[in-house]
Amino acid sequence: MELGLKGRTAVITGGSKGIGLGIARGLAAEGVKVVLLARNEDDLAKAADALREYRVPVLAIPTDISKTESVREAAKAVGAHRDFGTVNILVNNAGSAIRRIERQILWDDADWLGDAQVKIIGTLRVVREFLPLLATDGTGRIVNVTGVAGTTTWGPALTHGFNNAAINHATGYLAQDLAAANITVNAVIPGLISTEWRQMWADNMGKQQGKTRQQFLDDYCKKQGILAGRWGSVEEVADSVVFLASDRARYINGAKLAVDGGITLNPR
Ligand SMILES: NC(=O)c1ccc[n+]([C@@H]2O[C@H](COP(=O)([O-])OP(=O)(O)OC[C@H]3O[C@@H](n4cnc5c(N)ncnc54)[C@H](OP(=O)(O)O)[C@@H]3O)[C@@H](O)[C@H]2O)c1
Repeated sequence: MELGLKGRTAVITGGSKGIGLGIARGLAAEGVKVVLLARNEDDLAKAADALREYRVPVLAIPTDISKTESVREAAKAVGAHRDFGTVNILVNNAGSAIRRIERQILWDDADWLGDAQVKIIGTLRVVREFLPLLATDGTGRIVNVTGVAGTTTWGPALTHGFNNAAINHATGYLAQDLAAANITVNAVIPGLISTEWRQMWADNMGKQQGKTRQQFLDDYCKKQGILAGRWGSVEEVADSVVFLASDRARYINGAKLAVDGGITLNPR
């Protein structure tokens, strides 16, 4: 299927690792120029290096999306760069693992607000600051990566839950708000995905329960009601984002696409 993405520009928050790097690979493989935003410079450099095989311009900008000035500087750098300028695709993906697994209702304000600063407010902040660069010729796309904690009750994940639910809501708001500018806005909702930190988590949980990673995952997926019976790959999430970013998805707007092996059917 020809996706019509060659030569376009994408900005991916949290593009240095995990799902974000997978999305960057998927887009770069279609000939898209990519801008990676994340905080850690070493990880950004490694990610940019890993993308070299696709032979597209790659720009890695150390950015903390919880800080307005940092996001503003990043947008300024993209707008001023001769290889970039106009942004066709904005992927809001940055986020983090659950900080601590004790009861989040007992966290203090700073912890709740800290998570919101990155996820929901970070997403809105990035949209606001990059909006002047977004293409208005019908190629403009925003894809928000949220998570099943926003649509189901996922163990201890209170802050992930309210952030993801809020971004799903903002996806509809933005789709409506930006329709006149020919920009579509959709959300991808991953379930349990095999990123580096999730692999470490599965190893640790397995060890605690005297199981191998695979034994732990088999039992966990069954318990959580994941119909596929396994976790998803980074590529399986990236494929959905690449499709939504493409010309083929031009009539899809305000959608929330679960990429979760069927977990939201909740057949437990
Ligand atoms: N893995 C899963 O099972 C899963 C399931 C559902 C939803 N999700 C969602 O998918 C997204 C990606 O998750 P992942 O598992 O790929 O996570 P990951 O491997 O930990 O990668 C997170 C990325 O976000 C960046 N980031 C974190 N805080 C940031 C900040 N303040 N400013 C800029 N960049 C920041 C990180 O880089 P720095 O730390 O260097 O900034 C990194 O590039 C997250 O929003 C997560 O909630 C993941």
